Amino acid sequence: MRKKFLPIIVILTILFGLTVAGYVTPEKKEKMPVRILFKNSGGKVIFTHIRHHRDYAIPCEKCHHERETSDQEPLPCGSCHPESFDKDYVREHIRSFPDTSYCSKCHHAELGKLNFNHEAHEEYAEDDCQTCHHDTNIEKEPQKCGNCHTNAGTKDVPSVRDAAHKRCITCHDDMFEEGLKGCSPCHKMHDMKNYSGDYTACGQCHQKNEKDLVLNRTSAFHDKCMECHKQMKRGPYKDNECSRCHLK
Ligand code: HEC
Ligand code: HEC
Ligand code: HEC
Ligand code: HEC
Ligand code: HEC
Ligand code: HEC
Ligand code: HEC
Ligand code: HEC
Ligand code: HEC
Ligand code: HEC
Repeated sequence: MRKKFLPIIVILTILFGLTVAGYVTPEKKEKMPVRILFKNSGGKVIFTHIRHHRDYAIPCEKCHHERETSDQEPLPCGSCHPESFDKDYVREHIRSFPDTSYCSKCHHAELGKLNFNHEAHEEYAEDDCQTCHHDTNIEKEPQKCGNCHTNAGTKDVPSVRDAAHKRCITCHDDMFEEGLKGCSPCHKMHDMKNYSGDYTACGQCHQKNEKDLVLNRTSAFHDKCMECHKQMKRGPYKDNECSRCHLK
């Protein structure tokens, strides 16, 4: 008889323990603005923050998509989606994040070690060093391209990237045709979770303007708000509904 009840008693004890622990550990309180006023040239917008979360049952991460863990304070959208990615932004933004875990949200890739078997390539080029190196007018002796070609390049001397690529592409045009996916045979990528080095400008890899890579402030708001309304067919999103958000 006693043996039969033992498991039940054990379970009840555990449950009781958990209940007490639940009361004792304070509930994780997240700071939540009730409503937020945005002043802007389209007419001010009052955003019903708490209603969106509580009444419309939208989890924080739907909007605050930068949070890695739920106890991270959300950042203002403008810290990552500024009005423009100008010099001021580049200078200021580095100090505007609580820790470096945010950096890899945008700086998501860095080139690692170059994968290039020089010896094998001497053979592929049939020992004609000038397949890649210059003649003695420029390079007295074959050497590292980076000795003369800088990261930025100049009007007359191309960047290391462009200089090297121009030589490699003569035999490896297939890799370059694949765009960003074709970088990996030559460039190993760093694991950005454990990265601690300098950051390469986006344009070094993308060859497009950073403003086309990260949304600016207005588009970030418009896209985030409207996309959801449209999907759920609730809330304003149609072209003639500007004034449901923008008060004159
Ligand atoms: C429907 C979208 C949405 C949801 C859901 C949402 N938020 Fe927000 N929240 C916003 C927007 C937009 C702002 C204004 C950000 C700004 O000023 O740039 C904001 C601002 C905040 C702020 C003020 C700090 C800041 O970023 O300016 C806090 C704190 C916050 N939210 C916490 C939360 C928490 C916690 C949850 C979930 C319990 C949550 N929010 C759910 C959209 C949302
Ligand atoms: C820590 C930086 C960071 C913060 C803070 C941030 N974003 Fe973003 N956001 C990004 C990056 C990086 C991308 C592009 C990569 C991606 O899609 O994840 C992006 C993409 C977007 C997109 C397009 C893709 C999508 O998820 O719909 C929208 C819209 C957007 N953000 C709106 C917002 C809004 C609104 C806020 C504030 C509530 C916000 N973001 C806060 C970094 C951030
Ligand atoms: C919202 C996206 C975003 C986040 C988050 C972000 N950056 Fe940037 N960062 C940029 C953009 C865009 C540039 C301009 C790059 C360019 O010139 O092409 C830049 C430029 C830089 C540069 C100059 C690179 C160069 O050579 O031009 C450094 C250094 C840098 N960021 C460091 C950081 C650090 C450190 C963090 C985290 C604390 C961080 N960034 C977070 C978007 C971001
Ligand atoms: C397929 C292209 C290619 C061919 C062919 C080639 N090289 Fe190179 N070489 C390179 C590149 C690219 C580098 C720079 C590698 C780096 O920075 O890691 C280099 C670097 C070097 C260096 C500097 C090494 C160092 O670590 O300082 C020497 C010396 C060199 N090459 C000699 C030669 C000689 C001699 C030949 C002909 C027998 C030759 N190379 C043929 C592409 C080539
Ligand atoms: C000693 C300095 C020096 C070194 C080392 C050097 N370059 Fe150059 N490179 C120059 C100069 C100067 C120019 C511009 C003058 C010209 O266009 O002839 C140039 C131009 C170029 C150009 C554009 C013109 C052309 O020839 O197509 C390419 C491509 C190039 N270099 C590739 C390379 C590669 C690849 C390496 C390494 C394997 C390398 N260079 C090493 C100095 C150097
Ligand atoms: C003269 C032609 C030629 C040039 C120029 C050349 N390669 Fe190659 N490369 C070859 C050949 C041939 C192979 C071996 C067959 C293959 O894998 O395509 C090869 C193979 C490779 C591989 C291994 C391929 C893989 O899929 O893993 C890498 C990486 C590579 N080359 C890098 C470079 C780099 C970097 C340059 C420019 C500095 C360069 N090559 C320039 C002919 C060339
Ligand atoms: C066939 C091999 C090859 C391919 C494919 C290739 N690269 Fe490179 N890349 C090189 C070589 C070789 C250098 C010169 C390295 C040096 O001398 O320091 C270089 C240099 C660079 C540099 C400047 C130096 C640095 O380390 O920051 C950048 C940026 C770069 N490559 C970006 C890319 C991107 C983005 C792609 C894909 C679109 C790509 N590369 C594809 C061979 C390649
Ligand atoms: C070292 C090279 C490298 C650097 C530097 C880099 N990226 Fe990328 N990025 C890539 C590669 C590779 C992909 C493609 C990933 C895939 O398709 O698998 C990519 C994809 C993206 C995408 C997805 C859409 C697209 O255009 O393909 C965005 C957005 C993006 N990067 C933004 C940025 C921003 C913003 C920066 C600078 C803060 C940056 N990247 C710096 C290599 C780089
Ligand atoms: C993930 C989904 C989602 C996002 C993101 C979102 N909304 Fe909504 N929104 C809703 C839903 C659901 C309703 C409820 C509509 C109803 O009940 O008819 C709503 C209603 C509204 C309404 C009308 C009623 C009210 O509560 O004020 C406005 C105005 C509004 N949203 C503004 C915004 C703004 C501004 C943003 C961006 C900062 C935003 N919403 C982001 C889902 C979303
Ligand atoms: C779901 C709500 C919502 C709707 C609908 C909406 N907007 Fe907005 N709009 C916003 C928010 C939020 C901002 C960002 C406010 C900020 O930057 O602080 C904004 C910003 C703007 C800006 C400011 C741009 C700047 O650079 O200052 C303009 C202009 C604008 N909207 C016009 C419109 C027009 C036109 C429509 C209708 C076609 C529209 N909006 C519909 C919410 C909305």
